[in-house]
Amino acid sequence: MAPVARTVLLATAYYVLILLLSSCLIRADNRPSKITVYNYLSIQGSNSTSGYNTVLCGQPPSAQPNSFGQTYCFDMPLLKKRSLTSRLLGRVQGTFVFTALEGSIVFVSETFTLNRTSPKGTFTGVGLEFIGRVSSKPITGGTDDFAFANGVATTTPLSNGTDAVGNFFAWFKYEFVFSFRNSLK
Ligand SMILES: *[C@@H]1O[C@H](CO)[C@@H](O)[C@H](O)[C@H]1NC(C)=O
Ligand SMILES: *[C@@H]1O[C@H](CO)[C@@H](O)[C@H](O)[C@H]1NC(C)=O
Ligand SMILES: *[C@@H]1O[C@H](CO)[C@@H](O)[C@H](O)[C@H]1NC(C)=O
Repeated sequence: MAPVARTVLLATAYYVLILLLSSCLIRADNRPSKITVYNYLSIQGSNSTSGYNTVLCGQPPSAQPNSFGQTYCFDMPLLKKRSLTSRLLGRVQGTFVFTALEGSIVFVSETFTLNRTSPKGTFTGVGLEFIGRVSSKPITGGTDDFAFANGVATTTPLSNGTDAVGNFFAWFKYEFVFSFRNSLK
């Protein structure tokens, strides 16, 4: 074999080896590119004492039109499927504030905890949601397997209604698309 051909062959072999090694590293790295979960919102009804995960936790000193200024605190389950009996993956905790004078918009700040899955950790989403419409907000950072995460969290309203004890409930699908700022943890 000509020396040039041998050099090329050797270089190619090294290149393949490096590719294989780096793909192993990427696989050992637990950081996800996409995750989909379902969440169940249930706002406490006026006479309800159970079954809810969201309560009115602040409001303006005098009542405003369109719920303006009302603040709700929530602690919702994140589920694998759109069913309360499906696998629990974690929780999302935070607040939303009715933030538009005309109504229909809430400002949400929330932290997602995925602690029964691989990857594991927390990440935070902050931004506006348009009631009854598909809405996206930025992912502003995370911890553990989500350390240095950026991305977009898109929520899609699926259905809503009133449960047997008078809580308002709604199902949402949450789709997370992640990007990570550094190449390795
Ligand atoms: C809550 O209970 C009060 C007193 O019994 C009743 O007047 C009211 O209609 C109930 N509200 C709802 C939403 O069931
Ligand atoms: C994380 O998991 C532990 C153990 O299952 C549980 O006690 C805790 O409440 C979980 N945290 C959240 C935010 O779900
Ligand atoms: C409940 O569902 C209806 C019909 O899809 C929708 O118009 C409405 O915005 C939803 N309400 C909330 C609070 O999500």
